[in-house]
Amino acid sequence: MPSVAVIGSQWGDEGKGKITDYLAEAADVVVRYQGGNNAGHTVMVGDQIFKLHLIPSGAIHPNKDCVIGNGVVVDPLVLVDEIDGLAARGIERLRLHISERAHVILSYHKLQDELEESQRGADKIGTTGRGIGPAYTDKVARCGIRMVDLVEPKLFRQRLAAVLPAKNRLLRSLYGHPGIEMDEILETYGPVGQRLREYVKDTSEFVTAALKAGRRVLFEGAQGTMLDVDHGTYPYVTSSNPTAGGIAAGAGVSPRAIDRILGVAKAYTTRVGTGPFPTELHDAIGDRIRERGKEYGTTTGRPRRCGWFDAVVVRYAARVNGLTDLALMSVDTLGGFDEVKVCVAYNYRGQRLESFPARQDVLEECEPIYESFAGWPEDLSAVRDWDGLPAEAKAYVEGIERAVGVPVAAVSIGRAREATILRRPLF
Ligand code: IMP
Repeated sequence: MPSVAVIGSQWGDEGKGKITDYLAEAADVVVRYQGGNNAGHTVMVGDQIFKLHLIPSGAIHPNKDCVIGNGVVVDPLVLVDEIDGLAARGIERLRLHISERAHVILSYHKLQDELEESQRGADKIGTTGRGIGPAYTDKVARCGIRMVDLVEPKLFRQRLAAVLPAKNRLLRSLYGHPGIEMDEILETYGPVGQRLREYVKDTSEFVTAALKAGRRVLFEGAQGTMLDVDHGTYPYVTSSNPTAGGIAAGAGVSPRAIDRILGVAKAYTTRVGTGPFPTELHDAIGDRIRERGKEYGTTTGRPRRCGWFDAVVVRYAARVNGLTDLALMSVDTLGGFDEVKVCVAYNYRGQRLESFPARQDVLEECEPIYESFAGWPEDLSAVRDWDGLPAEAKAYVEGIERAVGVPVAAVSIGRAREATILRRPLF
């Protein structure tokens, strides 16, 4: 199979970094197609922990081509920092390809993100504050700046001259901010543009050629289905399309280019930021999942909200992405409970809902209908294959498979690469 997509099936943080890294070993090209440095992927290689926000996880392996597609919003300061950080740890010859059509996050986007959030009051989205939403807003409003502009000093100045006056009018009139000087932006971003210049190209051409040549291409989704601007819990979403449909637009490839679509889901559910979360646990069980699973954000360090596995959510993800396989992560975290639960449907005013509703007021009233499973022992660290798993853990995985209707191809029982049980080949 020449191409596999890795897609978050919940609210992000499902462990896509680990699976992407695992698959990247077999891949030739790893492509990001949406999001920006709001994402945070933690990858463990031996005893080293790598935290990447923008560069595709494949970068850690030698000789992989890493692509930042046109659908990504790029903070050039963060990207240069990541390149330098990897170099300092001995990863120097990056085969990085950045789309010339990718939009750039500039200082005013970060400022706008903060100011907008502070004015939302009780309706706060809980954004990562990285300027993601404002950069995508400018892209759609046709006043964005692209990588191709950033790396050409003349174009950069021209584009800034065209868009900055309106941006400053907005900052002054809506937020009482004095505005941002053009020279300040040119001084900060001009030099980083020049540093990134060598990587900037038509990545649609590059990825399409790779696919044609039969090279193995891995599409690495950031965030998750329930944070998708179209399919997620709007307005508590990110501003891009993490779902499989986003790949064609965000990488510049045909929708027919994707062979396998692997949904990544944790064996329970987590969410950072605000918004509906039907299986959230506000009790000692939720706390125990958070502590055992180290459920604190990679990007912002915020504690994650925790709850039981929600099969309504993942079934919905299976539909909107066309998932062909599931990877079930962090099964070890649930070890040691007497009983574990899977939400199979919602009860809304006495009515059984099998499908995820769009209305927030309905969601807020939805009571999870649970199926219970017997727990398994705390320590799974010695387990390396499916047969080695306790019968109760196997029954739990099979219960999820049934409830979601997608085969579980991989089960993860720890952070290390070896703690991954493959039930059917992915690449
Ligand atoms: P933004 O993407 O910074 O605009 O944030 C919008 C929403 O998406 C907030 O609820 C964030 O917490 C959430 N979010 C963004 N990126 C991630 C991620 O990588 N993992 C989990 N949640 C995320």
